[in-house]
Amino acid sequence: MALVRTAILISGRGSNMAALIRASHAQNYPTDIALVVSDNPQAAGLTTALEAGIATHVSERSTFDTKAAFEADVDTALRSANIDLVCLAGFMRVLSANFVAGWSGKILNIHPSLLPSFRGLDTHQRALDTGVRISGCTVHFVSAELDAGPIVAQAAVPVLPDDDADRLAARILRAEHRLYPQALAWVASGRVRMEDQAIFIDPSLPFNRDQSFVVPNV
Ligand code: GAR
Repeated sequence: MALVRTAILISGRGSNMAALIRASHAQNYPTDIALVVSDNPQAAGLTTALEAGIATHVSERSTFDTKAAFEADVDTALRSANIDLVCLAGFMRVLSANFVAGWSGKILNIHPSLLPSFRGLDTHQRALDTGVRISGCTVHFVSAELDAGPIVAQAAVPVLPDDDADRLAARILRAEHRLYPQALAWVASGRVRMEDQAIFIDPSLPFNRDQSFVVPNV
């Protein structure tokens, strides 16, 4: 089967990007990571992508007069590379409804909380301040509303009594690195799809059985 050409959008470290690249090297993984786009020319993830032999493109917001021009540049880079699926991985810009509509059902994001709790920024400190005992991460389709699109998969992670935001973030990040490659594989192989802003899930997937989908040992 032809591999699904996938682009990853980053702004910084790119550890989720690296996890997706590693996963894509496995036999039978359904995607080819064909392009990495960053809005930040200093993003460390760009070096990782180059070292992995992946084409990169930088669209720096401040070099464009408008958000629409910035997004048009990103869109052109994606379409020129014949990209089928887009993964946001620590991409710290909110994409417009117009951009999202052009890639409807084809953009995924990973967010470091159990959505719909703690949308937006500063998720770990807010989880600690709220006193939740379980947090985690969510892979979801991107919709026009921030961190609100249909959920593909989630991993739960305990919040421990001596956690600070950094310790909790590190524990959740380890779960992210396992969840995102799995979720991308499901979407790329068509086993999870977005249809009319709702999710369609292949009944054979494990989280549809009578079990909770918790990533252990993180
Ligand atoms: C990850 O924890 C990701 O979930 C989060 O930023 C981090 C990026 O790390 N994304 C968001 O907060 C998006 N709202 P990475 O660059 O090492 O993948």
